[in-house]
Amino acid sequence: MPQMAADPRYITTPIYYVNGRPHIGHVYTTTICDVWARFQRLLGNDVFFLTGTDEHGQKVEQSATERNMVPQALADENTAEFRRVMGMFGLSNDHFIRTTDAGHKRQVQAFVQRLMDSGDVYLGTFEGWYDPGQEEYYTETKARETEYMSPISGRPLQKATEENYYFKLSAYQDRLEQLFADNPGFVRPDARRNEILGRLREGLQDVPISRTNFTWGIPVPGHEEHVIYVWIDALFNYTTALGMAEPDSDVWAQRQQYWPAAYHIIGKEILWFHAVIWPALLMALDAPQPACVYAHSFWISDGQKMSKSLGNFIDLDRLQSCIDTYGRDALRWYLTTNGPLGATDADFNDAQFHETYTTDLVNTVGNCTSRVSAMIAKYFDGVLPADSGIAVGDVNWPELCENQAAASIDAMDRFDLAGSCAAAMSIVRSVDAFIHDTEPFKLAKDPEAAEALSAILYRCAEALRIASSLLEAVMPDTMAQLHESWNISAAVDLRAACSWGQLQPGQGIVKVALFPRVQLASSEA
Ligand code: MSP
Repeated sequence: MPQMAADPRYITTPIYYVNGRPHIGHVYTTTICDVWARFQRLLGNDVFFLTGTDEHGQKVEQSATERNMVPQALADENTAEFRRVMGMFGLSNDHFIRTTDAGHKRQVQAFVQRLMDSGDVYLGTFEGWYDPGQEEYYTETKARETEYMSPISGRPLQKATEENYYFKLSAYQDRLEQLFADNPGFVRPDARRNEILGRLREGLQDVPISRTNFTWGIPVPGHEEHVIYVWIDALFNYTTALGMAEPDSDVWAQRQQYWPAAYHIIGKEILWFHAVIWPALLMALDAPQPACVYAHSFWISDGQKMSKSLGNFIDLDRLQSCIDTYGRDALRWYLTTNGPLGATDADFNDAQFHETYTTDLVNTVGNCTSRVSAMIAKYFDGVLPADSGIAVGDVNWPELCENQAAASIDAMDRFDLAGSCAAAMSIVRSVDAFIHDTEPFKLAKDPEAAEALSAILYRCAEALRIASSLLEAVMPDTMAQLHESWNISAAVDLRAACSWGQLQPGQGIVKVALFPRVQLASSEA
């Protein structure tokens, strides 16, 4: 068969503001992208997974002033914290972009220059309402709706009148509507798409893309007193990381195949920028559109929205303590299978975490792999027996595994991470049920049943091998441990790894205990 070229697949997280501290929200988005990226790599695709930090803007300038620092020093300090987070959670991003990178700054200026040359960016006078907390502008209509208060912080909006550079967003109304009509999956989930369609129907106005009341940002080329609005600067990261504005650069030579992105994964609060402004900027630059902007909902904390005033952020210390108690893969599993990928928020609470860990990982994956390897140890001295093909039970294992693997791969392709995990878990549960029905521990006492016993244990181990390959992206550490104990070589191609019959009779299977049972710390009385 001719060698197929690896399919390039690009996935991005938002770039995170350096004026806040990393918390579950940042870890969540980055983790789900990581799961997808690892899965795609296992499929043999050529993945580029991007994350990074958003370092310009008035808020960073102010925080730096308060701390008697220059903004760059504050940005350096806080971006280091975000990078540390990558290490804590085993995230496999291919690049970490900073908006203070020289290459990013140069390219943002080049993009803005192109937009000025084409007339998509022009100098105009802005009158409207500014939300300093969000660094966002509102129209008169929008501001009136919220009684001239920030919908986020509740603080008064500031009346703003100033000369600014504008982006001609209004010129893209029809093309944006067409984009949405032609690509029903452009914004997901559907509830979010409908929100955007509703707002689009209200009509688009041009947006200011520069500011003159602070300096910490990228200057508008040729008009240094203007700083490029932080959101425009930030959105461009998805293309500057690939070198798009410098077509002769080495970076573009190496990375151009990744555009357009397969997924921009973001939280729901920043959808407008990604679903409307970003596509319009790309249209203005004649660049292809990403395939999907996926806006997940929020984690809330024990039933309440996380907020500074409540002091209830699920912060890094809390996440670290989950890792200390349950392991890193347990946290990845919980975030991936219980997270807010749909239209509703998800609650992070210890009892549910514990329950998920115990049910899925201890009682299912851990128990099943331990039982099968213990029986192979006990009845076959840790050597995998052969399957003669004798009929035992009524499961067609090759077919069951093939179907579940296809379901798991399809679900992951659609970014249905929980669905992908569920298909893999259903293989494990089928193994459990098979052991329950065929009772190998009883057959072991009957010398005449030796052939059936061998067949059962081979099939159990082989099915678990396939399940473990599908679970590797979400739980890389534990599955690596299983693969080592069972002498399973790393999957080069996940589809091929999911075909039946690859464990070799005679190979060693070492007993494993993957997920130790944990006692739930009793809550304070
Ligand atoms: N810098 C902008 C994004 C620019 S992208 C071109 C920004 N940064 S942020 O630091 O505030 O990060 C926002 C992202 O963090 C959200 O979009 C989401 O991915 C994640 N989360 C923040 N809080 C969250 C929850 N409570 N729950 C889940 N994720 C959320 O906005």
